[in-house]
Amino acid sequence: MPAAAPSLAFADGKILLTRPGGGVGLVTFNNPDKRNAMSLEMWDGLGQALVALRDDAEIRVVVLTGAGDKAFVSGADISQFEQNRHNAVASEAYAQRSAAQRALLADYPKPTIACIRGFCLGGGLQIAMLTDIRFAAPDCQFGIPAARLGIAYGYDGLRNLVSLVGPSQARLLLYAGMRIDAAEALRIGLVDRIMSQDELLPATLDIARTIAGNAPLAVQAAKITIAEVLKDESRRDMAAIKQIGDACMDSEDFREGRRAFMEKRKPAFKGR
Ligand code: COA
Repeated sequence: MPAAAPSLAFADGKILLTRPGGGVGLVTFNNPDKRNAMSLEMWDGLGQALVALRDDAEIRVVVLTGAGDKAFVSGADISQFEQNRHNAVASEAYAQRSAAQRALLADYPKPTIACIRGFCLGGGLQIAMLTDIRFAAPDCQFGIPAARLGIAYGYDGLRNLVSLVGPSQARLLLYAGMRIDAAEALRIGLVDRIMSQDELLPATLDIARTIAGNAPLAVQAAKITIAEVLKDESRRDMAAIKQIGDACMDSEDFREGRRAFMEKRKPAFKGR
């Protein structure tokens, strides 16, 4: 690998981008004093970091995490609500400001992983649910306190929640506004693996590097096909699945994968 590119900071340093090596990009929500609550400026910064990593050919997997050990993201920054989210019209404008970044993450062309410690609430859970895979430390607390604040959680967030945990668990979380711990989140399918506090980030980066070392087109095929499986049948793009499948079978990487196996060596994939 070439030498690691320097870190970048966005949103006055509240969003950090680092490249820990092995084709992995790391985005850190960095406002630990506020439990990494997401301000609108941080949403803008998240978008900028995601675009930078999307356009970086060396990066094949993106990991999102929170600074400190107390929170991934504790939701939207409530201190901005009085001015920016106090009624339906303001709330619509507020949602629009982060819509592009949420869409960017939802349709991100590279695999994404959320690495979660501490609180993961409201909009923070929404971000985690927009990633492909979620790993959590045992001390995590998940919840959607919308009913405690008097706000609606929105279609996209609920669509992802329902598809991960099913309608009844989604109702329980939303109606009661209750928080659940990591073990319960694992049980209902909200997170995919629990790792100890110390192991969480290194183990997440290891798995990210493993993904980054696999054939990019094959990984992309899995990502595209699973996304299409989750769509309503009327909106499903079977041609996209066929296209990426053909691209894999005709790729240099498939040839390299076969040869490397026969020659008992590690394959060197190029993504074409
Ligand atoms: N928006 C704005 N500020 C927040 C915040 C949020 N979502 N979450 C935490 N903070 C701030 C607190 O106001 C506090 O600020 P202060 O030091 O100036 O008083 C600081 O972060 C630390 O929070 P505190 O409540 O003292 O920490 P805690 O560890 O006891 O509890 C939480 C952490 C996350 C459980 C609690 O802060 C909380 O319930 N936050 C709101 C969560 C929420 O409703 N999110 C959904 C928003 S749509």
